[in-house]
Amino acid sequence: CLQVATNVTEQKHHVTREVRGQNLGLCRGFRGCTVWLTGLSGAGKTSIGFELEAFLVSKGIPSYGLDGDNIRTGLNKNLGFSQTDREENIRRVAEVAKLFADSGVVTICSFVSPFSEDRDMARRIHKEADLKFYEVFIDTPLSVCESRDVKGLYKKAREGAIQGFTGVTQAYEAPEQPDLIVKTEELTIQESTAKVVELLVSENIIP
Ligand code: PPS
Ligand code: MG
Repeated sequence: CLQVATNVTEQKHHVTREVRGQNLGLCRGFRGCTVWLTGLSGAGKTSIGFELEAFLVSKGIPSYGLDGDNIRTGLNKNLGFSQTDREENIRRVAEVAKLFADSGVVTICSFVSPFSEDRDMARRIHKEADLKFYEVFIDTPLSVCESRDVKGLYKKAREGAIQGFTGVTQAYEAPEQPDLIVKTEELTIQESTAKVVELLVSENIIP
């Protein structure tokens, strides 16, 4: 078959997770995992994700935020918003997140990721690599996201200028059993972020 690569074998690193954890950062120990933030456009994924990244880094904990808008202008710039393109977007991001997490980084993914199947795939990719994966539902009602309309995308979607816009002309499948639900309506960005921090503390990812 010429479509997929054959004759490829997994190559082993010389550095174990234990050694990475012992040697990297002020806050030693292997903490690599993925925190996956899902929610509607305008729910607060980027704000919370980057606030969390800044908090962890300030504590000497290696962390990196992968964000939909950013990834879609680089690695995934050949993808659109059809169901199949969203699936491929999430697959690639999950594979990248797995590598970051394996390197010892607390990886924060902020993607709409509207389809349960795709989020399950992201979880599975981590599970197969024996890496922790936390699904966090940034639960902001559509009416609130739409009233914020920070980027003016809801207005455009209502006017028919954007096809397949999540929550308007395409589905958002809310997580049924997320590891955490953050209801941003009553909270500041810092308070929402603190909920995720609490989760990471309770999971012994951070002290
Ligand atoms: S997905 O569903 O996970 O593949 O989407 P993602 O990679 O997170 O990209 C979402 C950002 O792209 C902008 N945008 C859209 N979002 C949803 N639906 C449509 N049709 C769309 N078109 C453009 C928008 O800025 C999203 O960012 P956030 O931060 O979610 O608002
Ligand atoms: Mg965003």
